[in-house]
Amino acid sequence: MSKTRWSGRSPWQNRSVTYNFSSGPATLPDAVIAAIRNDLPSWRGTGQPLMTLSHRGADFIELMAVVKAKLRQALAIPDSHDILILQGGGMGQFAAVPLNLTHPGDKVSFLLTGNWGVQAAKEAGNYQLCVDRPADQQSGNYTTLPPLENLAIDPASAYLHYVPNETIQGVEFSTPPVTVVPLVADASSQILSRPMDVGAHGVIFAGTQKNLGVAGAVVVIIDRALLGRARLETPSILDYTKMSQADSLLNTPTTFAVYVLDLMLDWVARLGGVEAMAVESRAKADLVYAAIDASDFYRNPVEQSARSTKNIPFTMADPSLDRQFLAEAEAAGLMFLEGHRSVGGMRASLYNAMPQVGVVTLVDFIKDFERRNG
Ligand SMILES: Cc1ncc(COP(=O)(O)O)c(C=O)c1O
Repeated sequence: MSKTRWSGRSPWQNRSVTYNFSSGPATLPDAVIAAIRNDLPSWRGTGQPLMTLSHRGADFIELMAVVKAKLRQALAIPDSHDILILQGGGMGQFAAVPLNLTHPGDKVSFLLTGNWGVQAAKEAGNYQLCVDRPADQQSGNYTTLPPLENLAIDPASAYLHYVPNETIQGVEFSTPPVTVVPLVADASSQILSRPMDVGAHGVIFAGTQKNLGVAGAVVVIIDRALLGRARLETPSILDYTKMSQADSLLNTPTTFAVYVLDLMLDWVARLGGVEAMAVESRAKADLVYAAIDASDFYRNPVEQSARSTKNIPFTMADPSLDRQFLAEAEAAGLMFLEGHRSVGGMRASLYNAMPQVGVVTLVDFIKDFERRNG
C-alpha cells in the first residue's frame, strides 16, 4: 500500500484520554460510545446493524415511538405539544418556522442576542415577511441580554423567535420571554441541560449534535394548535402538519441519529434527568469562569448575569498567545478549544457529556498556562 500524507489519524487520537470542547458535533458520554460499539454489528438481537434496518419495519417504528416517549418524559412535554424528528438541522428550521407559521405580509419578531438569532431573522426575511426586532444587542457586541420586561412585541406578530443559549457569543437566558404571541425557541445548544417550560412555547427546535447525540436530526416540539397553517409551497419534509400526520416517517429519517438520541435520553435519565444536568452544568461552568476571572490574563466579555453555562468564550490580554495556548492545550488532550471565527480567542463548550474531570483538567491547564506566560 502506498504511503499517503494523511494517515487518517490525528496525533491526539492516539492519546488514552482526551476531552472534546467542541460546540458541536460535541462530545458523547463514554457509556453511549460503548453502547454504540456493542450494538453496531447487531441491534437488539436482530442480527442487523440498526442503520441497515428499514424505517418501515416494526423495530424502527417502535424505536421512534419510544424515543418520543422518552423525550416527553425528559422535558415534561405536555400532551398539547407534538414531537417531530426531522432533518435539515437547526438552520432548516430557520426556514421551516416561517413557512409553517406565516403567510406573506405577516409580521414576525426576533430577539437578537447573537449569531444564530441574526441568521434566523435573515432567513425569515426571505419569505416576504415584515421582520421586527424588539431587541438587538449588536451595539454591545452580543455580550448582554435585553431586560425581558417591557419588550415592545407587536401582538400582531405571527411569533416571537429567541435563542435561549447563543452558542457563539455564550449568552444564555435563564427564563423565556413572556409574550402573548407564539414563542419560538432555538434551543439547539440548551436543550436537555435544564428544565424548560415547554407549555409556554409554540415551537422549540434543537439539532441533535450537541446534547442529543450525533449530527443528523432535529427535534421539533410544536403546540398542536399551530399545526395546519403551513404555506402551500412548504416542502413536505419541512411541513410540520404532514410530518406530524406521518409520525415523522414521511421519508427516510436519520435512523442512526435517532438511535443515538435514544441512548442519550437513557443516559440522562440514569443520571437524574434535566434537573441533575442543570446542577452539574452550573458547577462545571462556575469552575471555568472562576479560573478566567481570577486575573486580567484571561477575559470573558459577557455580562455576568447573561453568561452561558454551555459555551464559554474567552480571550487573552495578549492575543498573540492564542496559537500557543491552543497548541499546548491540544498536546495536553484538551481538544477543539478554538473560538468561533467571528469572535476569535477560545471557547469551551460544556454540554452534558463533558465530565467534571474534563473541566478540572481544563481549569488546571488554564491556570498553568497563565503561570508560565503571565
Ligand atoms: C443555537 C444554534 N442554532 C442553530 C444552529 C445551526 O444548526 P445546524 O448546523 O444544525 O443547522 C446552531 C449550530 O451550532 C446553533 O448553535
